[in-house]
Amino acid sequence: ITIAAVVPAAGVGARMGLNHPKQYLKIGDKTVLEHTLSKLANVPRLDKIYVAVSETDGYFAALDLSALAVTRVTGGKERADSVLNALLAMQNTPPDWVLVHDAARPLVEVSDITNLIEQCLTHQEGGILASKVKDTIKRGTSHSEETVPRETLWQALTPQFFPYQQLLTALQQARQNKLQVTDEASAIEQAGQPVRLVSGRSDNIKITTPEDYALASFLMSQQSK
Ligand code: C5P
Repeated sequence: ITIAAVVPAAGVGARMGLNHPKQYLKIGDKTVLEHTLSKLANVPRLDKIYVAVSETDGYFAALDLSALAVTRVTGGKERADSVLNALLAMQNTPPDWVLVHDAARPLVEVSDITNLIEQCLTHQEGGILASKVKDTIKRGTSHSEETVPRETLWQALTPQFFPYQQLLTALQQARQNKLQVTDEASAIEQAGQPVRLVSGRSDNIKITTPEDYALASFLMSQQSK
């Protein structure tokens, strides 16, 4: 079985309030993107790593990724466009499965990635890392209208792992039907196909805001001890 990793890294990081994208923030002496890529490089199951980078990106070329053997592909307007571009770029030598992991999630543990891959291959169905919602969840705008029962609520994380052809078709269908797709699993769900929930560590956070960055920097310093 061949497995390719796709790392969408073409976001602009608007919610960080910075003029450079969050995947290029430094944690210690490496950028967030480099931390993420070195995690993936430590997953023996992965045959190839594709990174989707924006056409106007002025940072990627300056990184020294020679030890990691990654292939750069062009990102798109939305995250789903970046992932679809990466899948299309490997069309001539398609892998059996693809593992999509956000550039902005450097804290993922290799053991969680391996667990996701093994569980999905055992059951022969796609799946995602997810963590059970811990807080009490409200629905509303200015006032709470409802407390949503949380027993069956999960927070979707990445990696997300699907057969190549299944994900390609689902993302193309979602684009054609102009469906909102904020992760790979939502495209698969909209195609009526199963998405296995594999419990992962909740500290696999996505760096989105300055608070996330501070927390990620602390957690990363603990991991490297
Ligand atoms: O914006 P968000 O936090 O959901 O981004 C998740 C990941 O998707 C980030 O790693 C970001 O760089 C990437 N992304 C992308 N192409 C876009 C938008 C986001 O590859 N057009």
